[in-house]
Amino acid sequence: MHTHKIGYFVGSLSSTSINRTLSKALLELAPDDLEFTEIAIRDLPLYSQDFDADFPPPARALKEAIEASDGILFISPEFNRSIPGALKNAIDWGSRPWGSNSFAMKPTGIIGASPGGIGTAVMQASMRSVLSFLDAPQLNAPEAYITFRDDVFGSDGEVRDEATAKFLRHFMEEYDAFVQRVLAVTAPGHIGDELPEIRR
Ligand code: FNR
Repeated sequence: MHTHKIGYFVGSLSSTSINRTLSKALLELAPDDLEFTEIAIRDLPLYSQDFDADFPPPARALKEAIEASDGILFISPEFNRSIPGALKNAIDWGSRPWGSNSFAMKPTGIIGASPGGIGTAVMQASMRSVLSFLDAPQLNAPEAYITFRDDVFGSDGEVRDEATAKFLRHFMEEYDAFVQRVLAVTAPGHIGDELPEIRR
């Protein structure tokens, strides 16, 4: 079995983050060939072009982690109908200096949870625009807008509702297949000789 390294961002700095809880559930439900490493955003200073000549250690670590990943997964809240500032700041760091965009051609997935009914849909639309500009292929479908409920998600990653678990498992399977499809083109030696099945 070929394993694929997935770097994941949690777009919340909250100690009680529902999106961190969602991230634990996704890691539990994901296919076994995916290996996950969190790409931390907490210690990054606010990005400025003044840093371009000499990135600080947390920003260097961020870019190295993105570049070492086969795929990138964003698990994020929606803040004021857009991308939380801490996550956008991290993306800005990863995209620079000009000419060294670490996200280029990285297969990406986006998912997020909110207590409200639209489940981060507007944040995800903003993310798609940003990732398009960064030349990062995106999983288009399934979309995953998660309305968070305490009775469904345990803090340790347990999902108590089978329909929700089934949907999240399906999302991660489709993300895995998408990563493999992109790698088949961008890094053919990585996945072996066989093209992965296109499932729809
Ligand atoms: C929010 N929240 C929110 N929810 C939403 O569905 N759409 C939105 O636009 C916003 N806007 C927003 C702005 C700010 C500054 C905060 C702090 C919160 C509510 C948000 O979904 C809720 O606080 C989640 O718990 C945030 O996710 P984490 O941090 O718990 O993962």
